[in-house]
Amino acid sequence: MSLCDKAVLVTGACSGIGYAIAQELLKNNLKTLVVLDIHSKPECIDNWKDQYPKISIKYFMVNVAVDEEIKQCYEAIAKDLGTLDIVINCAGILDESDYVKMLNVNLGGVIGSTFRAIENMRKDVKGHGGVIVNISSILGLDPASVIPTYSATKHAIIAFHRSVSFGNDNMGIKFICICPGFTATPLYKNARKPGFYFNFGEEKLKMMKDANIKKQTPEVIAVGLVRLLDEAKNGSVWVIEDSEWREQTFPKLKY
Ligand SMILES: NC(=O)c1ccc[n+]([C@@H]2O[C@H](COP(=O)([O-])OP(=O)(O)OC[C@H]3O[C@@H](n4cnc5c(N)ncnc54)[C@H](O)[C@@H]3O)[C@@H](O)[C@H]2O)c1
Repeated sequence: MSLCDKAVLVTGACSGIGYAIAQELLKNNLKTLVVLDIHSKPECIDNWKDQYPKISIKYFMVNVAVDEEIKQCYEAIAKDLGTLDIVINCAGILDESDYVKMLNVNLGGVIGSTFRAIENMRKDVKGHGGVIVNISSILGLDPASVIPTYSATKHAIIAFHRSVSFGNDNMGIKFICICPGFTATPLYKNARKPGFYFNFGEEKLKMMKDANIKKQTPEVIAVGLVRLLDEAKNGSVWVIEDSEWREQTFPKLKY
């Protein structure tokens, strides 16, 4: 898909996987990049503006855990930029010591941004259709005992994605869900904090070591994701683990 006439919104694009996705979109010369993140003055935005002066880059400081902030942001986008073509919901956190925050960011943020994006993009109302990508995790398919709430939010994202993508062809929106395996990003930066992992000790540490988890780079996700914008079917779920992509299939919904 050529991105040169596309307006793309990415949440959580100031770090890790979202950052790599934004970089890859910029390299592909998209028309407009809209970034939603929680920082007041993120350095990456100024750097990108310097590096890509021909691309329109807009930043909105938004806490995706707060529905009213998402609503106001999408209203401002509709007023200033009109309709979006692609929305990538990537913002997420990991910290079992604050399960309410994790539910609100990881799940509330994805659901809230998806519903606002649908309002903006649906072709049967005022939009032109488009693509909505939601970032789940491999732990949305195989939960982990050390991060039960995180695993629950990532399972829920897949359920939400499969539901919202089914039987809604009138909207002209393609929904894609991505489930990355362990990826080298700052997501785990507070891993030493008490309670960060649930009921963690020697036994769980040994289990994790025995699992021999392989790390991948965020860039490998970004490159594949840009390709999938075009190639993936509506409702599809994609795993990228140890830098290898595979499609995860599910039974078709009944209603
Ligand atoms: N790193 C991994 O191993 C891995 C694996 C599978 C899935 N994921 C998922 O990928 C996504 C990105 O994770 P990452 O590893 O790049 O993490 P990261 O910590 O590097 O980046 C997360 C980004 O989200 C932003 N963010 C956090 N809370 C926010 C909020 N309330 N409102 C707006 N923005 C907020 C952060 O500021 C940051 O820019 C997350 O949804 C994560 O669950 C990560």
